[in-house]
Amino acid sequence: MNPSLSGGASKPAAIHAGTSVFERLKEYLERVASRNEKAYILADENTKRFCLPVVLAVLPGLHSAEVLEIRAGENKKNLETARMIWDFLEEKGAGRHSVLINIGGGVVTDLGGFAASTFMRGIPFLHVPTTLIGMADAAIGGKTGVNLGTVKNQLGTFHNPEAIFIHTGFLKTLDDTHILGGLAEILKMALVADSHLWDRFRLITFPDLLKTDYDDPVWQDLVITSVALKSRIVEQDFRDENIRAILNFGHTLGHAFESLSLQDDRKPLSHGHAVAMGMICESCLSSMKTGLTDNDLQAIVRMILSGFDYYPLSDDDVHFLFTSIGHDKKRSGGDSRFSLLKFPGEAIPGVTCTPEEILDSIRFYRKFER
Ligand SMILES: NC(=O)c1ccc[n+]([C@@H]2O[C@H](COP(=O)([O-])OP(=O)(O)OC[C@H]3O[C@@H](n4cnc5c(N)ncnc54)[C@H](O)[C@@H]3O)[C@@H](O)[C@H]2O)c1
Repeated sequence: MNPSLSGGASKPAAIHAGTSVFERLKEYLERVASRNEKAYILADENTKRFCLPVVLAVLPGLHSAEVLEIRAGENKKNLETARMIWDFLEEKGAGRHSVLINIGGGVVTDLGGFAASTFMRGIPFLHVPTTLIGMADAAIGGKTGVNLGTVKNQLGTFHNPEAIFIHTGFLKTLDDTHILGGLAEILKMALVADSHLWDRFRLITFPDLLKTDYDDPVWQDLVITSVALKSRIVEQDFRDENIRAILNFGHTLGHAFESLSLQDDRKPLSHGHAVAMGMICESCLSSMKTGLTDNDLQAIVRMILSGFDYYPLSDDDVHFLFTSIGHDKKRSGGDSRFSLLKFPGEAIPGVTCTPEEILDSIRFYRKFER
């Protein structure tokens, strides 16, 4: 690693994982301290309880760092919480070269990244992802953001952290729902970019994985493979203008499912679960538009429903999904654009689908109601 304090929004982050990860973080922080700069920590109520003590045990020097604890949850990923972070940095005397360490899942890294990238026009920040989604996906690639009402990630920046420190040991305290959510994003990565990873998913099912100890190398392998795939794609298209869009597979409808569940407290749906449901619909669109075979479509649906509960939709919900797609940033003109699969392992970005085709894909989805 070559830790620097200068960086730049699009400069790729140094990514560290494995046994020496805290040693690398220590080196980075020593560099910060040697310049008389301060480190600040952002965590949510769960990561402050479960993950921060792990970090402090190996890095006692961080005990003196100011910590901001925010409430956990997607509905806190908003401008009000960003304002709290800006106020915290301001009140605690942060300067242009102070460092914000974001310890948490995708909500904390998206929020902390957003707040840091806008505070004083951008201060350095680090991600210490603590969920599987965070490690395999959210912390990688420099997208920061907050929701605007129920519209996901409507405000945000492209700004890389200086470095990312991945410790899969944090997964031990994460519940199965959120582990599954991460597996959905890793499955997506396989479907859009890595047929070998898809073959591995076919050999080891979601229920088997959930029974596998988090010290098992399989977790480190899955995370590292996903990080490498995402980094390779982001490197080609940091600002999401062409090829990076393949990572949106499952997300156009997935975000609509997620917005739907945010509307209704009785039906909580994690981000990964929403993406899994979106991938069922968008695999169906792939079979209509980009040549995904029926066999592959069935295999993908079987794989998803082996791990994720079907999310029931009323007729009103279907109407809501359409309205949400209208807000989606991937829409152009009257039709919506999707990233769809040619086959498991290769995707095509920017495929235009009509409202009727989208409705057909939701009809296909609703056939799996049990
Ligand atoms: N920026 C990107 O490229 C990108 C990519 C994918 C997802 N995301 C975003 O990520 C978010 C979803 O990420 P998430 O599922 O990590 O959400 P999250 O941050 O809300 O974490 C899920 C829950 O797990 C808790 N938690 C976190 N780490 C824990 C641990 N080690 N032990 C126990 N509990 C722990 C959190 O407090 C929270 O309650 C969404 O907002 C999504 O939009 C961003």
